[in-house]
Amino acid sequence: MSPEKHADELLARIRVHGAIPRHVAIIMDGNGRWARERLLPRPLGHRSGMQSVRAVVKGALALGVEWLSLFAFSQENWQRPATEVGALMSLLEEYIAREVDELREKGVRVRVLGDLERLTPAAAAAVDRVIRDTAHNDRLTLNLFISYGSRAEIVRAARLLARDVAEGRMSPDDIDEEAIAARLYTADCPDPDLLIRTSGELRVSNFLLWQIAYTELYISDVLWPDFGRRELYEAVLAFQGRERRFGRVSA
Ligand code: IPE
Ligand code: IPE
Ligand code: MG
Repeated sequence: MSPEKHADELLARIRVHGAIPRHVAIIMDGNGRWARERLLPRPLGHRSGMQSVRAVVKGALALGVEWLSLFAFSQENWQRPATEVGALMSLLEEYIAREVDELREKGVRVRVLGDLERLTPAAAAAVDRVIRDTAHNDRLTLNLFISYGSRAEIVRAARLLARDVAEGRMSPDDIDEEAIAARLYTADCPDPDLLIRTSGELRVSNFLLWQIAYTELYISDVLWPDFGRRELYEAVLAFQGRERRFGRVSA
């Protein structure tokens, strides 16, 4: 069976079950290992990973997922060699230039979450463009996490709260979970239902620490450039087999 046909068959099985995660988050990992296995430079692994982004966006649209969050570049990734960081920034520009029209036409709203002040001017301009050009869409929201670290996001929320208290807009007793969540980059989106990490690593690497309190985790051994629609659907089928209890007793 062709990979496309296999993917369609998995999609049909998902539909029979019915429960679709509203928000899927993915830690896209393994580009470097994918390149190394082929004796290629790491940036070529990242370039191949762009195809996987295309494929999962297509898969998410077919599923009817409302929110897709992709971890593309972490705050800690700035410590990588300048050549690799430069290649990743150029790929971000290239991805936006190539995909913006199709994303707009398919009803995808793109947002970019993270410390964007550190982006190169060209990458920042591309980011502004895709956000502006897709802002009116509402079929799928694609959250691209770039220059993002979850602890830094929580520190930022704490500072915003401290400022509100110091300037008299709020009392310390008003600080609750909602007040913190409202000051995260993800303020207006539901917590992820499903978090996928590729390349077999069993860690969260500073992604959405607050937001994944009750998220279902799925680790795929597939390296990101080999991840596609079929692998996304396999993760969703696994999700459909989970029982989410949120600390309560089973139904
Ligand atoms: C994920 O692939 C992409 C980024 C973190 C930018 P890696 O570059 O981490 O690939 P591995 O983990 O070294 O294989
Ligand atoms: C996490 O992958 C960050 C992204 C996928 C963007 P890393 O490759 O940076 O994480 P570690 O270093 O293996 O924990
Ligand atoms: Mg990695």
